[in-house]
Amino acid sequence: MPSVKRQTQEDYDIAEPRASAMIESLRAFGYNIQTAIADLIDNSISAEAKNVWLTFFWDGSDSYMSIRDDGRGMTEEELVNAMRPGSQSPLEQRNPNDLGRFGLGLKTASFSQCRRLTVASRHKGCEVAIRRWDLDYVNQTDQWRLLRSAAKGSDGRLTGLKEMAKGTIVLWECMDRMVGDARTDDRRAQEHFLDTVEKIENHLAMVFHRFLEKRSPLKIWLNDSCVEPWNPFLADEKATQMLPEEKFCVGGENLIVQPYVLPHHSKIDSNKYARAAGIKGWNAHQGFYVYRNERLLVAGDWLGLEFKKEEHCKLARIQVDLPNSMDSDWNIDVKKSGARPPASLKADLRRIAGLTRKKATEIYRHRGKAIARQVSASYSYLWEQKVKHGKTFYRLNRKHPLVEAVLSEGENLTLKLKALLRLVEETVPVPLITLNSTEHPYSQTQPFEGVHAEELIGIISEVLDTLLKNGWTIEESKGCLSGMEPFQKHEDLIVVALERYQNQEDR
Ligand SMILES: Nc1ncnc2c1ncn2[C@@H]1O[C@H](COP(=O)(O)OP(=O)(O)OP(=O)(O)O)[C@@H](O)[C@H]1O
Ligand SMILES: [Mg+2]
Repeated sequence: MPSVKRQTQEDYDIAEPRASAMIESLRAFGYNIQTAIADLIDNSISAEAKNVWLTFFWDGSDSYMSIRDDGRGMTEEELVNAMRPGSQSPLEQRNPNDLGRFGLGLKTASFSQCRRLTVASRHKGCEVAIRRWDLDYVNQTDQWRLLRSAAKGSDGRLTGLKEMAKGTIVLWECMDRMVGDARTDDRRAQEHFLDTVEKIENHLAMVFHRFLEKRSPLKIWLNDSCVEPWNPFLADEKATQMLPEEKFCVGGENLIVQPYVLPHHSKIDSNKYARAAGIKGWNAHQGFYVYRNERLLVAGDWLGLEFKKEEHCKLARIQVDLPNSMDSDWNIDVKKSGARPPASLKADLRRIAGLTRKKATEIYRHRGKAIARQVSASYSYLWEQKVKHGKTFYRLNRKHPLVEAVLSEGENLTLKLKALLRLVEETVPVPLITLNSTEHPYSQTQPFEGVHAEELIGIISEVLDTLLKNGWTIEESKGCLSGMEPFQKHEDLIVVALERYQNQEDR
């Protein structure tokens, strides 16, 4: 951080935010009730809760929502700090599993929906501590007065903690945004309330599906029914295609991209297909799915990469996994409901999106005609992209079977070869490639495009020979070649190379 010049008291005024104005402004971060509840569950997950119980209680304008968890809870001092807007600086390094960043979510999510936020929490071995923000009271007093008790008549809504050794309850009352001043017998308002609860359930099933699917899963209970996960990728379906996974190393951390093409509807059970459509339907749910620490931030979006959502691309869904150390690169906001990729990754993401869309269109148009299923584990890259000090460079993958095999030949050869590889790597004409691909995105040839089949068979045979000499079986070599870029697109030529090898052996 840049050093700040020492100032004397004459040099400055203290301009504290006005409590009444500021607390009302904190309501306007743009949450809806689904994203607001998800933000509270983030906190429960960060506190290592195993269960989260949500209660929505209809009583007209006195309706309330409570969310209780069995996480680590807070001491009284921690609770007071947690209730403070800006309880922790976004610049502080966080535990890798922490879903928080800004020190705001508990307050901004809650105020977006209600005028009274009460939190009761118990840390192991401590008494239950209670604090409350009452927006009307802050408005009246124009001071940040955090009340030390629940509102009159609300204690009964916080009793759930009594039998628990640790945990937290967040209680929303005066939910003006969801119920306004509706009367208890207002049927339409009650129906709206129930519909909203269903929307919340679907949203949580999607956003937290990875936590709900774990071997020892998080359980989210909504008015006593357990939320079932919604997984966007249908990875267990035979007809789902996993395209090659790609890894990008940014500042020493990995970003992993895994594209999927989901099955044509004729290839799966109609109920499964209907459920896989998602809350907003197939068309809206195409694109990238960005996960931050396993938590879904974006559920189908082309991330401003100049692609439109189109019917024929609806089967394309691309999973992106980022750690929380990339928050500022990806412009993660307080609501955790959006992300924008950094400029350095846009070209690669555009390339991956383009390829996935193309495959998805083939499946959409050809009614699911079988295209060889590629499993990422058996896929071999020749090039790896790395980023150091904000600069991108490319390395040949030393674990690629061919590179590995050649490098394990004699020492003399290895030294020469290593020098050659480094030379190739250091002289990749990146600026030229970038310039050409931005100016003429469709004018670059694909690997071995227009090359005579015989030449390609010759190269495949060389790789095959190397693999066999290094102890691979015929079957293993075949599998390896079928997953090796760019041979995976030439299954027929791999078969020819194998046949020729076997004929030679038989002679
Ligand atoms: N359910 C909970 N259990 C235990 N501690 C909690 C719980 N909810 C909030 N806290 C504590 O309160 C702090 C403030 O939460 P808040 O959601 O306002 O900010 P954050 O999670 O740190 O960041 P973000 O603004 O990104 O959500 C958390 O950092 C955590 O220490
Ligand atoms: Mg939070």
